[in-house]
Amino acid sequence: MRHATAKFYDRAPAVVESFEQAVISGLSASPKSIPCRYLYDAAGSTLFDKICELPEYYPTRTETRILDDNAAEIAALIGPRAQIVELGSGSSDKIRVLLELLVSPKTYVPIDISAEHLQSAAETVARAHPSIPVAAVCADYTSNFDLPQVLEDGYDKRVAFFPGSTIGNMTNSEAVAFLERVRHLCGPRSDLLIGADLQKEPSLLNAAYNDSQGITAEFTLNVLHRINRELDGDIDVSRFVHDAGYVPERGRMEIFLRSEVDQLIHAAGRGFRVRSGERIHIEYSYKYTIDGFRDLVASAGYTPVHYWVDAQQLFSVHYLRVAA
Ligand SMILES: C[S@@+](CC[C@H](N)C(=O)[O-])C[C@H]1O[C@@H](n2cnc3c(N)ncnc32)[C@H](O)[C@@H]1O
Repeated sequence: MRHATAKFYDRAPAVVESFEQAVISGLSASPKSIPCRYLYDAAGSTLFDKICELPEYYPTRTETRILDDNAAEIAALIGPRAQIVELGSGSSDKIRVLLELLVSPKTYVPIDISAEHLQSAAETVARAHPSIPVAAVCADYTSNFDLPQVLEDGYDKRVAFFPGSTIGNMTNSEAVAFLERVRHLCGPRSDLLIGADLQKEPSLLNAAYNDSQGITAEFTLNVLHRINRELDGDIDVSRFVHDAGYVPERGRMEIFLRSEVDQLIHAAGRGFRVRSGERIHIEYSYKYTIDGFRDLVASAGYTPVHYWVDAQQLFSVHYLRVAA
């Protein structure tokens, strides 16, 4: 049987309402914040793909090389008739080489909050791998949701795939809670293949998040354009700047939008006063040591099986199994 089209399942919360609530509560709070999942509307997803191509942005190409170079070994660990569940699948680029090498994979299940981008990426995978059923699920992986019942049977093993060091956008306690949810979602006989960015020379990190072409700045500032577009906002985006820096003692990149002036902005029918120099928190990106990451996943009930790093030790990919 050929499966050249992807199936699509919508498990997403009402996006507009949840975005509105998040913006109202985030801009009313002190300090102000906007959750990073709202960076990924259609424009944001396209900008993120551009970031992945930037010379300074090492994570994507380094992780892709680790996955590609070790794909045969990873495929052997996964074994035959597996269902691959990718969380935050974006353009589904990193899974492609692995899909080629898996023995009789049962289903590829990309999950993402960005519906349009998910649908087109899922169709691309389905066309490239016509023998593998693709079932795309639009959902917010930070909330509780179930996979469609039709995906519950017929595989030997389920493997959650969470690349991109997206885990690093969560604090350690959020990451443990998230991984526990993934373990619950995928079941007791599941494995986890996950990318984790490593601690390194701060200048490399600062360059990666402050690229010379200004694409990363465009990406974070896009969330203000999104507020204007979707929540009837009047924000003059040119009065904010992207502000990203590595804080070694916390082991994380801290990413903000900083107001250049005192201003009153409006969105969703409300006004929000922003002081000159005030920062709206957008995202953290934690960087790990191998041992620190293994301790973190162990707290969520996963046992390390194997890990791979690149020659410069910039990035790591870990294969884990639900602890017996
Ligand atoms: C940093 S990108 C990584 C994309 C891809 N996995 C990679 O490694 O290149 C994060 C992806 O996760 C999705 N995402 C972010 N927050 C999400 C959430 N709460 N639920 C589902 N998807 C989410 C975004 O739409 C985006 O496609």
